[in-house]
Amino acid sequence: MTRNDRPGLEPIETASRDEIAALQFARLRATLAHAYERVPHYREKFDSLGLVPDDLKSLADLAKFPFTTKEDLRRTYPFGMFAVPMDDVVRIHASSGTTGKPTVVGYTAKDIDTWAGIVARSIRAAGGTRSDIFHITHGYGLFTGGLGVHYGAERVGMAVVPISGGQTERQVQLIQDFKPTMIIGTPSYMMNIIDEFERQGLDPTQCSLKRGMFGAEPWGEGMRRELEERLGIDATNLYGLSEVMGPGVAAECIESKDGPVVWEDHFYPEIIDPATGAVLPDGSPGELVFTSLTKEALPVIRYRTKDLSSLQPPTARSFRRIGKITGRSDDMLIIRGVNVFPSQVEELILKTPKLSSHYQLEVTRRGHLDDLAVRVELKPEHAGAPDAVRQAAAWELQHHIKSYIGISTKIEVVEQGGIERSAGKAKRVIDKRPKE
Ligand code: DLL
Repeated sequence: MTRNDRPGLEPIETASRDEIAALQFARLRATLAHAYERVPHYREKFDSLGLVPDDLKSLADLAKFPFTTKEDLRRTYPFGMFAVPMDDVVRIHASSGTTGKPTVVGYTAKDIDTWAGIVARSIRAAGGTRSDIFHITHGYGLFTGGLGVHYGAERVGMAVVPISGGQTERQVQLIQDFKPTMIIGTPSYMMNIIDEFERQGLDPTQCSLKRGMFGAEPWGEGMRRELEERLGIDATNLYGLSEVMGPGVAAECIESKDGPVVWEDHFYPEIIDPATGAVLPDGSPGELVFTSLTKEALPVIRYRTKDLSSLQPPTARSFRRIGKITGRSDDMLIIRGVNVFPSQVEELILKTPKLSSHYQLEVTRRGHLDDLAVRVELKPEHAGAPDAVRQAAAWELQHHIKSYIGISTKIEVVEQGGIERSAGKAKRVIDKRPKE
């Protein structure tokens, strides 16, 4: 085989494009067959288009197959898209759906093993080794961030500190005491930790950290510079989404820092025109679509991520990279790493008896942290209600949003007519964050 083996890398990371394509083709056929045979949703969709898995004669033929969306997962909530019996599922995670119901994902023991391997590869790409002490600030729980990264880090053989998110003062304390050399989290939360260092009169550039991996929300070169300078580290980008696996679908290499490398031996990427669904050539801007190549419990065929980006040619590895994520083709907001759909907030507003359906969300940025404020009108029958009534309704909504979506919000309850009416579509979201 024509391989340019490099120490520390798996052979496939430096394989020829022909070898990669051959592996992708074999795995794609197997995945299509697995999905078709085991998941009624895929069988019905393929049948309705007159397609069988064998119609895939080349990688390009994938374009004939139907897309999968978050809506499909929601319709089959919670486990309808699983391709294995529940006895074979060993882990369940979930992420925000467009309404109150989360999107549920499952893993077999082999999936967890594969995932750990891919995350380990991602950590190595970011410069991590078994000699590192690794401080994980991603949330542990239904979110894929904490546990997903954790298993990969253990696979590398690092000393893992599973601190999870929050309790920022304690994060600083443990960084001072345990002296981790590597950290992972959302870039906005890392900024919060850096601010806390400074608040305590400590110089963050003098701490033990040397490298950091950041993701779960969009960030750019300006933020990279700031993280690297204020913390004295190398900062790399980690990309992923629950439906496709979790963290580690793509990861940036420390030597090139030129965008996350898609682990193409496990995820087949496409870029499509979000309006027409047509596959676009590499380099064109469009929506990222992934097909899983090795997943057992939840194979996904042409999953529409809604993330707008591009596919870039290989550099530090033989796999293609994703370009800057410029936005989303749906209305999902990411607030401090938590996915938030305006429709979820709307549902909670409608569950709060005194509140009407006239509302507006305002996203602002304080330093590096995003804040979400909700302005909502009282129902007409409560017009002129005393402050205490409004305050109680605000608290109720704030509590619901915190417990169902997981973020803190500022709620302002205004009188009827306090929210501007629009002649056409209501403008639900005012995004005041600066564009990077
Ligand atoms: O955020 C998985 C993850 C955890 C990735 C930890 C990286 C680190 P979800 O909660 O399903 O999964 O959210 C997925 O987050 O479609 C993107 O819109 C956004 N996202 C994730 N990573 C990045 C990144 C996890 N590096 C959604 N840059 C995705 C920009 C990102 N956006």
